[in-house]
Amino acid sequence: MQIVDSLLGLRAQIRTWRAQQMSIAFVPTMGNLHQGHLSLVQRAQTIADKVVVSIFVNPLQFDDKADLQAYPRTLQQDIQQLSETDCDLLFTPPAELIYPKGMAAQTKVVVPGVDDKLCGKMRPGHFDGVATVVTKLFNLVQADMALFGEKDYQQLLMIRRLVDDLNLPIEIISVPTCREQDGLAMSSRNQYLSESERAIAPQLHQCLLQVAQALQSGASNWPLVLQAGLEQLNSAGFTPEYLEICRAEDLQTAVAGTDTHLRILTAARLGQARLIDNIACDLA
Ligand code: PAF
Repeated sequence: MQIVDSLLGLRAQIRTWRAQQMSIAFVPTMGNLHQGHLSLVQRAQTIADKVVVSIFVNPLQFDDKADLQAYPRTLQQDIQQLSETDCDLLFTPPAELIYPKGMAAQTKVVVPGVDDKLCGKMRPGHFDGVATVVTKLFNLVQADMALFGEKDYQQLLMIRRLVDDLNLPIEIISVPTCREQDGLAMSSRNQYLSESERAIAPQLHQCLLQVAQALQSGASNWPLVLQAGLEQLNSAGFTPEYLEICRAEDLQTAVAGTDTHLRILTAARLGQARLIDNIACDLA
């Protein structure tokens, strides 16, 4: 695996692969890799000739400075893990390469309709930061396809929309959420949990499953189902930010009796960790 931190180095390798008619899949990350990231790399390897992974902790998408500072940076460990996969090139750009004029002077990419719901509402500016860095990374790497996990479902839909709206020549491929054996969605943030919080954390996924089960058993008062879910999270020790039933295709609030292709999404704080999760729910 090659490790490149300059634009010249990246472009030289991409040009060589292109000249050899090779297809390229791209997995953007912020590092601190876990099995969820590695599953994206494994999938990438099955659909393209070459796999590029980036590690860049993007300051523009952190609405909270303390969160940015605390974000785990584990480059040596990440390199070790990636070298055991079929990753061909690891791109680790410094902040000056991504934001040469500084963040304030950076042209931003803003996808409408994400800031008023779910994580966008709770983290103002977060998705503008993601959209901006992802657009830049797509332009730098020039891959044929990019892979994203379903765990960040709102991010995934926003990136699909961005690619569509700006006619970016890249295919977006989604990969199912990787879970621990007890159902907890894998996340870099799980390491902020204490031992006792870690024991509680799987209840977030269980709550989503219970909401889905209620809907699939014909419950028609969805606000009541959600209220019960929020109460359950509160009594388990979470501070929930939201628990919502949305249309899977556009994350608009779903309507009972009308919408059937659903996504149930939640975010909740547990100790120092902000956890998010979501599941699909299709009604017959
Ligand atoms: O999902 C992430 O890790 C980040 O939001 C991404 C897509 C790498 C952009 O910084």
